[in-house]
Amino acid sequence: MKNKQSLFLSKKKLLKEAGCDDYEDSAKRLFSKAFGMSPVQSYKDQIHERSNEKASLFSEMVSCRAVGVPTSHIVCSRSFWKNDFYVDGTVLDPRPESELIIDVTKNLLFDGMTVLDIGCGSGCIGISLYKENPNITLFLADFSKKALSLSKKNAEELQADCKFIRSDLFSNIDSKFDLIVTNLPYIAKDDFCYLQKEIILYEPHEALYGGQHGLDMIKLFLDGVNRHLNKNGIFVIEFGKGQDFLLKEELIRSNFNKVSFYKDLNNVNRLVCVKKDT
Ligand SMILES: C[S@@+](CC[C@H](N)C(=O)[O-])C[C@H]1O[C@@H](n2cnc3c(N)ncnc32)[C@H](O)[C@@H]1O
Repeated sequence: MKNKQSLFLSKKKLLKEAGCDDYEDSAKRLFSKAFGMSPVQSYKDQIHERSNEKASLFSEMVSCRAVGVPTSHIVCSRSFWKNDFYVDGTVLDPRPESELIIDVTKNLLFDGMTVLDIGCGSGCIGISLYKENPNITLFLADFSKKALSLSKKNAEELQADCKFIRSDLFSNIDSKFDLIVTNLPYIAKDDFCYLQKEIILYEPHEALYGGQHGLDMIKLFLDGVNRHLNKNGIFVIEFGKGQDFLLKEELIRSNFNKVSFYKDLNNVNRLVCVKKDT
């Protein structure tokens, strides 16, 4: 009879040999999902009759990962900030770098503040802000019907009270807000082919592609954002590595002067926080 440790180690080796970069982490997450516990917790256990089913499930999951399916899509979950979010191939997987938005804005939140997350995808940014202060009024917007229904699922699961708007940028939005956060698509045309194969194959391209220089969607956002900010309103944009100079020019062109840039953990500018002038 095999024990769980040898099963885990053999599957971890299989993932490594299949060229999976995050084989250790993937093997652990898949194991935990299949057995309902971490590998360390269960190392000594033999695989008994009743856990054979779980062992088969684990093997099937590993086979999917070995051919490139993202772990988050297999376990339908990705952790972001302080919560786990349901994800599948219809939305972008929440990325750790986007947690910088929460870090920078969480202390700006006040009771009754109106907050819009535009291009909400899974809802990870807006919902994480709501969990920091449930007394904000949160709106989640996206042009993708599938993203909106998935963000609704996450909002229900995480008990976040929010309103949903299907809108191409501001086209269907009349109100003004105190804070607008956004992580719109920003991958430039020439960078697209350098994305990891599994991103190209399994993540929605409309959540990634930002036109020739990556800023097409962000420029359109800048054209509309001022009309949707309350007095003293703030907006925050995540952008790609190396796009800060171009973005600075766009902000100046749009008459935004109260601008602060923030660096990610790799010391690269990734976020801009802008205060409305008047
Ligand atoms: C980079 S993903 C970010 C998703 C999520 N906010 C996150 O950080 O994980 C960009 C999102 O913007 C949405 N989007 C793209 N173009 C849009 C547009 N013109 N209007 C509204 N949403 C848009 C996509 O559907 C996608 O959900």
